[in-house]
Amino acid sequence: MSHSHLPKDFLWGFATASYQIEGAPHKDGRADSIWDTFCRIPGKIAGGESGERACDSYHRTAEDIALLKQYRAQVYRFSLSWSRIIPLGGRNDPVNEKGLQHYVKFVDDLLAAGIQPMVTLFHWDLPDALDKRYGGFLNKDEFVKDYENYARVCFEAFGSKVKFWITFNEPWCSSILGYSTGLFAPGRTSDRSKSAVGDSSTEPWIAGHSILIAHGAAVKAYRDDFKAKDGGQIGITLNGDWTEPWDPNDPADREACERKLEFAISWFGDAIYLGKYPDSMRKQLGDRLPTFTAEEIALVQGSNDFYGMNHYCANYIKHKDGEADINDFSGHIQALYHNKAGEVIGPETQSFWLHPNPLGFRKLMKWLSDRYGGPTFYVTESGTSLKGENDLPLEELLDDEFRCEYFRGYIGAMADAHTIDGVDVRGYTAWSLMDNFEWAEGYETRFGVTYVDYDGDQKRYPKKSAMEIGAIFDKYIEKE
Ligand code: NOJ
Repeated sequence: MSHSHLPKDFLWGFATASYQIEGAPHKDGRADSIWDTFCRIPGKIAGGESGERACDSYHRTAEDIALLKQYRAQVYRFSLSWSRIIPLGGRNDPVNEKGLQHYVKFVDDLLAAGIQPMVTLFHWDLPDALDKRYGGFLNKDEFVKDYENYARVCFEAFGSKVKFWITFNEPWCSSILGYSTGLFAPGRTSDRSKSAVGDSSTEPWIAGHSILIAHGAAVKAYRDDFKAKDGGQIGITLNGDWTEPWDPNDPADREACERKLEFAISWFGDAIYLGKYPDSMRKQLGDRLPTFTAEEIALVQGSNDFYGMNHYCANYIKHKDGEADINDFSGHIQALYHNKAGEVIGPETQSFWLHPNPLGFRKLMKWLSDRYGGPTFYVTESGTSLKGENDLPLEELLDDEFRCEYFRGYIGAMADAHTIDGVDVRGYTAWSLMDNFEWAEGYETRFGVTYVDYDGDQKRYPKKSAMEIGAIFDKYIEKE
């Protein structure tokens, strides 16, 4: 083959998450998660919305599977709602058979349709009872035990039917947006200097540490008691944007780029692959960044069977002078959409943070591959919103050429990373199968390849990109 390609057993499909699509928050014994309670705080979510109805996927599993089949998906990445399976969350709380069996049937139905399930155990919707009982992530010892117990319940119930397990989705978001900026549940911010645990200068780092240990504990449980008989793989999904220097001739901006990548990704990645936190983080945060005990590092180091990569966009990075603020969480830098020469990093979308740049995706894969000794990657999310999409008439909205262009660029860049840079990438699930609850942005921002009519009984309409993705993969995946 002359052009870039992807390996012949490459798996592609689509991704979603429980709270963003399911609705039915009180059905069959489910209890509140921190997102249910967070959405009730006035002013937190655009339009005062919540995931109460979302795409109603809890009741429409057959419809969702039919869409996946129609789009020719080989794999579906979705998440389990811990609050359906163990409504009160803890290791001494009862398992809710109805909630668990809902997912067991869903996995059976997916397999019957010839679609591989890729299961995320945790996509941000912590049982609220655990937050109330002991502060969730802030109480490492309790949290790790409860999470491991929940993971074991799931491993046991699904057995060999699930070959891909993801422990946590984007721990950066849970830690920073949940405990520093307060934009996400549980919405903690800096003005609690009298809190028993700490404030936003300490809590995000404590939260991240607990997540890493919980991830390690679940991986150990899987490897010790399930992997050999069930034959699956397990890893974590990390997010992070690519960085380009604002002034490529300024060494301080180039260093700032590395630092930003370290604060966003290596915070977790270095712990898992190198057994330590990055030096840049230790230097800036001092002992506000927890330290691993020998027992903890034994759990965390080497705990990925694969690297789950969520990636959307790139930024220009400018260094800042002086000392970092005590609440700074990104390495004392400024992220911008223009560089010194006035060039833009990528077109605008509906999401203020998302400016697509496919070459950045390729560069980041290479950066990660080099830093972590060539791990196997599954790209567990990549996708785009589209500026003003929500206001378009249906017919125009379904003709989402901008999103098709995004996927052509990103999938092509991934094939280049594989073919030219030697990156071992074996799967890609596009975000998202359908428009859904976009967290603090409510329903105004759409990421789906399927339009969901929230005012019209959640009816689904395929957009042009839904079929385009398969056509793009046909071009790149090797036949022989
Ligand atoms: C990553 C998150 O995992 C997902 O939940 C979110 O909707 C997308 N980014 C788009 O913002």
